[in-house]
Amino acid sequence: MTEENDELAPVFERAGEASVTRHDAFPVHEMLPETAYQIVHDETMLDGNARLNLATFVGTWMDDHADRLYAESYDKNMIDKDEYPRTAAIEDNCWRMLADLWHAPSVADAVGTSTTGSSEACMLGGLALKRNWQNARKAAGKSIDKPNLVMSSAVQVCWEKFCNYWDVEPRYVPISDDHKVLDGHDLASYIDENTIGVVAIMGVTYTGMYEPVAEIARALDAIQESTGLDVPIHVDGASGAMIAPFLQKDLVWDFRLERVHSISTSGHKYGGVYPGVGWVVWREAKWLPDDLVFKVSYLGGEMPTFALNFSRPGAQILLQYYLFLRLGSEGYTQMQQEAQDVALFLSKGIAEIGAFDLWNDGSDIPVFAWQLKPGHTANWTLYHLSDRLRMKGWLVPAYPMPDDLTDLTVQRIVVRNGLSMDIAAELLDDIRTETAFLDQLESPMPVEGQHAGFHH
Ligand SMILES: Cc1ncc(COP(=O)(O)O)c(C=O)c1O
Repeated sequence: MTEENDELAPVFERAGEASVTRHDAFPVHEMLPETAYQIVHDETMLDGNARLNLATFVGTWMDDHADRLYAESYDKNMIDKDEYPRTAAIEDNCWRMLADLWHAPSVADAVGTSTTGSSEACMLGGLALKRNWQNARKAAGKSIDKPNLVMSSAVQVCWEKFCNYWDVEPRYVPISDDHKVLDGHDLASYIDENTIGVVAIMGVTYTGMYEPVAEIARALDAIQESTGLDVPIHVDGASGAMIAPFLQKDLVWDFRLERVHSISTSGHKYGGVYPGVGWVVWREAKWLPDDLVFKVSYLGGEMPTFALNFSRPGAQILLQYYLFLRLGSEGYTQMQQEAQDVALFLSKGIAEIGAFDLWNDGSDIPVFAWQLKPGHTANWTLYHLSDRLRMKGWLVPAYPMPDDLTDLTVQRIVVRNGLSMDIAAELLDDIRTETAFLDQLESPMPVEGQHAGFHH
């Protein structure tokens, strides 16, 4: 304890706090639980304010009933399906509800599972594509040495990981000003007999835009007609699979398209749950190869498991079920519509400032990005604007676009449930003020140390 804060000790410090100087070596001695609690509690105070974080897609707020359920169930292990049969049944209810929401031809024939998030869900979707391709190739006596997966250069990092971890060649179709998303254009030049599938993204991470799944499916139909290759689609609906069914009901992107074999989403994004839950559903059980499903008996009963993790929290699944029951289609529509209204309000306001060109306006998922108008200024960049906003507590990341647009910097806002119109109006005021400040500069801002505020 230092001399200056001695007199504060009775109120602010506990015995032991001052003597703990290193938190990176394994402690030798015990400490009082109150002291340990206070240290962890205080340290996390240095984290940002989640409500002002406009960079993340992940939910940070649930209501009191959800919080109660969470507290009642944080000890449940999802893998112990014999010990927690109701939680296991609820998991099945949830993915069946999603199969229904995503128009599976027959929910009884569909199959699905919960995961820890979209990354794991995408890995499972990708693994099923790879194994189906391998099985078909083996049956035809052909080589399985060189699988490839075709996707936009703007995929989320989980797909790069998938290809890296499971030895699949990634074939990126670059985005451009003319083709802002993967849209089926020129697809034939990326596809061959070793293509295990195509990833279509509903809600591209960089911009929030939808990829036109139906157009991609049509391009694949044409490829099948001319080459005989029957290439399936996995829809990465991390965000959009929980938006499109409510806000763009007529958009055909899901199991209504026969070529869509599997869809994944994050329950913890626009599904509305705290971090730690995702979902993947196959339109028919036949697209999830049997040889990927393990049956374990050591937990009692004989339980099928298809996941990368074994033990993981069960509470998030109960929270997802709670929210499905609580909101239903009407409630989700209202919740997502509110987020979209805020996104459209913000994008319109930002476009009116005059310094920026919108990349999109948030009318797909409530996410949009903008760039500095070409020729607007040589004195500052979107990184400077991001820094200025950071000083006021807002996290609005700027980052380079992927291939072939890496020279282009954009800034993005993700509107989530909880960003009210009032808060959005404050944010817009701050963006206007800071843009005006930067526009008044008479010489350029330093550019050293600038870095992307967002990692994919
Ligand atoms: C399109 C897309 N796919 C996958 C992911 C990974 O999701 P998760 O964080 O749930 O693993 C994200 C996350 O932003 C995403 O935007």
